[in-house]
Amino acid sequence: MVDTERLRKGVNSAVSQCTTLAELSTVQVDFLGKKGIITQEMKELGNYPPEQRKEIGAVLNDLHDEIELIIKAKREALEQSELEQRLAKERVDVTLSSRPEDRGHFHLLTQISEELLTYFKAMGFKVMSGPELDTDFNNFEALNIPKHHPARQEQDTFYISGAPDRLLRTHTSTIQIRTLSNHDVPIRAVSTGAVFRNDAVDATHSPIFHQMEIFVVEPGITTAHLKHCLLGFLGFLFKMDLVAMDNNNEPMPVRMRPSFFPFTEPSIEVDVCCSRKDGELKLDLEGDWLEILGCGMIHPNVFQNCGLSTFRDGTPVRGFAAGVGIERIAMLRYGITDIRHFYAGDMQWLNHYGKL
Ligand code: DAH
Repeated sequence: MVDTERLRKGVNSAVSQCTTLAELSTVQVDFLGKKGIITQEMKELGNYPPEQRKEIGAVLNDLHDEIELIIKAKREALEQSELEQRLAKERVDVTLSSRPEDRGHFHLLTQISEELLTYFKAMGFKVMSGPELDTDFNNFEALNIPKHHPARQEQDTFYISGAPDRLLRTHTSTIQIRTLSNHDVPIRAVSTGAVFRNDAVDATHSPIFHQMEIFVVEPGITTAHLKHCLLGFLGFLFKMDLVAMDNNNEPMPVRMRPSFFPFTEPSIEVDVCCSRKDGELKLDLEGDWLEILGCGMIHPNVFQNCGLSTFRDGTPVRGFAAGVGIERIAMLRYGITDIRHFYAGDMQWLNHYGKL
């Protein structure tokens, strides 16, 4: 005879020990599977005499159904508790405030370059660019910088070994040569980019820094246009109406000094007078004079080297040019005292000065 009581106990104890659905499946296979205990018992029915077969068969069928119910109840209980555990684990507190988003941003120098380009673009300047690795001709020769000029000495310029004509540009004035040699005049152009000099590194010198170059080549251009253009630009930079002040004949915290560049005649340097109050640098009539840019009327030799002699109306080609250090502008504007900060890759510094 089948010991139903023993089987029932066996099922109950096996099921009660199950803590996961996977374990319960194993128990189900052990009892009800193809090779399970109940199935084996069913197969043995043939060994019993016919009158017992019916009775035992009925008992086994009932036991099969009963085991199924026990397993089903346990499965439901396990599913419920697994769901509860998951809900507890994945609980979302919708009342919590969100985490701050960590957003990237452009480097301060990129932001200022873009700002300067936008200013000049609005006045019809074309944005030009050129390679950092350029020729001796574009960087020196065409800019009327003769072979013996100190700027050509090896301690200033990075030359490329094995390529005697190649160098890392020492200024963005190369863009004047590239543009004037390849574009029609009249033209107004602006360009920003990295320049390289073999300087010792200190708080105000770095072997790589950035410049902006602007130039206007149009009939009738004079130093008066140059002055007006640069005053407007400096006023924009320092949020001050320098042009209007000049028209009113008032004193200005800006001065233009005669200077020398081989590629301009006359050559001028522009200083701004700044005071530092509450850690902020401001254009101020009482303060220190700081050189901010070089400029002048483009030298006739430069035009000649670019193959230009006259405008289409037959008048001699003429124009002005200016070059500005972008780090210098950023340092003045934000009171940054060490140029090395720009390239150190310190995230705290970059985030502070990049999100102003
Ligand atoms: N190229 C000069 C430098 O690197 C800056 C400069 C001065 C650019 C006068 C100009 C200019 O276009 O007219 O220091």
